[in-house]
Order: sequence, then structure tokens, then C-alpha cells
Amino acid sequence: MSRSKLWDKAYELGLKPSPLIHMPMLARLFKRERARRILDLGCGEGQHMLYLAKRGFEVYGVDLSSTAIERAKDLLKKNGVKARVIRCDAFKGIPFKSNFFNAIISFRTVNHGRKKEIERLFREANRVLIDNGMLFITIRKLPRHARKFVKFTDEEHYVPIGGKEKGIIHFKFTKEKLRKMLAHTGFRVNKLWVDEYGYYCLLALKDKKLKILGETPE
Ligand SMILES: C[S@@+](CC[C@H](N)C(=O)[O-])C[C@H]1O[C@@H](n2cnc3c(N)ncnc32)[C@H](O)[C@@H]1O
Repeated sequence: MSRSKLWDKAYELGLKPSPLIHMPMLARLFKRERARRILDLGCGEGQHMLYLAKRGFEVYGVDLSSTAIERAKDLLKKNGVKARVIRCDAFKGIPFKSNFFNAIISFRTVNHGRKKEIERLFREANRVLIDNGMLFITIRKLPRHARKFVKFTDEEHYVPIGGKEKGIIHFKFTKEKLRKMLAHTGFRVNKLWVDEYGYYCLLALKDKKLKILGETPE
């Protein structure tokens, strides 16, 4: 089954949206920094977009799953807010011109691919952000007790053997790997922490002065 179909299936099985716990902090930060145009990368059913659109931001969302896209469009329409939602495989490219966004948010999405795809995604995120543009991501940290529910395909990648994300490839991040990959794709990490749900949270800034390199070294 293709990845987009696997995600459609996850939604049909009742995949839950992630909580809005980081949104008040992000909305404050974006207001303070005058970040007006925001992209939600892997927007899912659109809850984070709705939060920002209601507060006057110009919001865009992309997602691979047509089920998620339809639900996001419905949610935004039902609430009478304007925001643009596009279906795409962001690992292949983000369909916006360079230097377009002031900020990108991406909840529980960027680890759902292979290392090379994720590096390409970060380079694309870098391209579509303005200089000093902000990137905020959250990524599931695979706890030791959850390892029995996944199958490792190599040292760095695993696939859940059950549950809603069954069959979807995941990259196993560590704080160190995140830092390295971001530095390698032209970002300056501002803050990296683990939230109350056990997710890595990372805030980084596009740094034009950083040279974008090839593959992240081991
Ligand atoms: C765990 S869900 C999180 C959804 C939403 N961000 C949230 O926090 O509720 C991951 C999302 O990433 C999307 N996704 C996965 N791979 C993608 C890709 N290559 N391009 C765009 N979206 C992708 C999935 O369709 C899914 O909606």
C-alpha cells in the first residue's frame, strides 16, 4: 500500500490529532516576531491551522493524505476562516516559492520517512522560509517500552507492527541526530526539549550564513 493510502487508513481508523499545547506559546512568539505567514507541514485535520487562522495569521497547510486534507478543508470552512490547504508529498518538495514563509510548524510528521527524505524535507523547509524564519517541530521519541511494538528495518528506521500507523516507516531520532541534521540543512537550533507527552520539541531559525551541506555525517 502507498504511504498516502496508509495515512488515509490511519485517519479512517481514528488517528487522533495532536494536542494544541504548544499553540499559545507559538502564537505569542509569532506575534512578537511579526511572523505573519505560516505553513503547517503535515497539517492533518487542520486543528493547528484553525488555531492560527482564528488569530489573524495567514495560514497554509500541506499533507500527503487526501482524507486529512478533506477534513482540514471542512474544519476551516465550518469555522469560517480562510486558509489554503494543499495535498502533496512534502518529502518530494514543498510547493511554494522560495523565501515565502515567516514560520513553519510541523507536529508529529517529519520522522515519518527515511533519513535522506527527511534531510531533503529540511532543505525544502529552509528554501521556503525567509532568512531567520522559524521552524518548530515535534517528533515522537520512541520509548524503550514501545520497542516491542515496532520492527527495526535497520539501525535507524522502524515500522510499527500494529496500531493506526502500522506499516509506516519511521526514522528514529535522537537529540544529537536532530541537532546535526538541522545544522546540516541550514538551521540554527534555538531550543530543544521533551514535552509532557514525551515528544521532542525543537525551535530553529533559518540561518542564511550556514552553508547547506550534503548528507548528514554519522
Ligand atoms: C501523526 S500525523 C500528525 C498530524 C497533525 N500534524 C497533528 O499533529 O495532529 C502525521 C501527518 O503527516 C502527514 N504526512 C506524512 N508524510 C507526509 C509527507 N511526505 N508529506 C506531507 N504530509 C505527510 C500524514 O498524512 C499525517 O497527516
